[in-house]
Amino acid sequence: KTPQTWQGKTFVITAGPTREAIDPVRYISNHSSGKMGYALAEAAAHAGANVILVSGPTQLATPAGVQRIDVETAEQMLNAVQQQLQQCDVFIGCAAVSDYRIAEIASQKIKKEQNDEPPQLKLVQNPDILQQVASSEKPPFTVGFAAETENLKANALRKLERKQLKMIVANDVSQTGLGFNSDSNNAIIFSQDSEQSLPTMSKHDMAVAIIDAIAKRYFDNTTP
Ligand code: C5P
Repeated sequence: KTPQTWQGKTFVITAGPTREAIDPVRYISNHSSGKMGYALAEAAAHAGANVILVSGPTQLATPAGVQRIDVETAEQMLNAVQQQLQQCDVFIGCAAVSDYRIAEIASQKIKKEQNDEPPQLKLVQNPDILQQVASSEKPPFTVGFAAETENLKANALRKLERKQLKMIVANDVSQTGLGFNSDSNNAIIFSQDSEQSLPTMSKHDMAVAIIDAIAKRYFDNTTP
């Protein structure tokens, strides 16, 4: 049996929301708290890995032993991730990246003018960080998340395929009290040929289970 240790291996994990400026005082974002990504960073560090956490704005403390890089926008997150790719063995995309950003950020605060039409915000698509990592020249073991409100399995498997992922953690965000901004979660972990259901548990316990599932696959497939 191959020794299964994360010692000397590096995880890069994205977490939290991104923030896309509209003007100097306003932005578009989402309700991601970053809890799941931070729990994953903590679990991976606890399992012995070097962990780099690329984080959007959150209220959370950096887990012990984790190197944190703070970013705001999706483009900054992509840049930060790309700078860490050389030394990355496992990439987990847990951030809720804004799919769109404002085409042209106003340099001054947008004013409410009397009798004027409301301003129209023009959006452009953000890069898909996860997909870019998975299709890079020497891709790390790449794990994605899929928050779905319907057709969980079909959508997760399609994402696994399309983004060329090794694993995807899918959760049903239509269930109240779970997922976004909550302390507990349930999920199904899919790979090409496996499916593992994780019942409702704390994000801490789920993070440990996900790092375990990654270890099983990673050490089976990459150690000679
Ligand atoms: O396609 P969808 O946004 O549902 O995919 C979710 C997964 O892709 C998550 O792992 C998320 O972190 C990642 N993602 C990303 N960059 C984007 C959009 C999503 O890394 N621009």
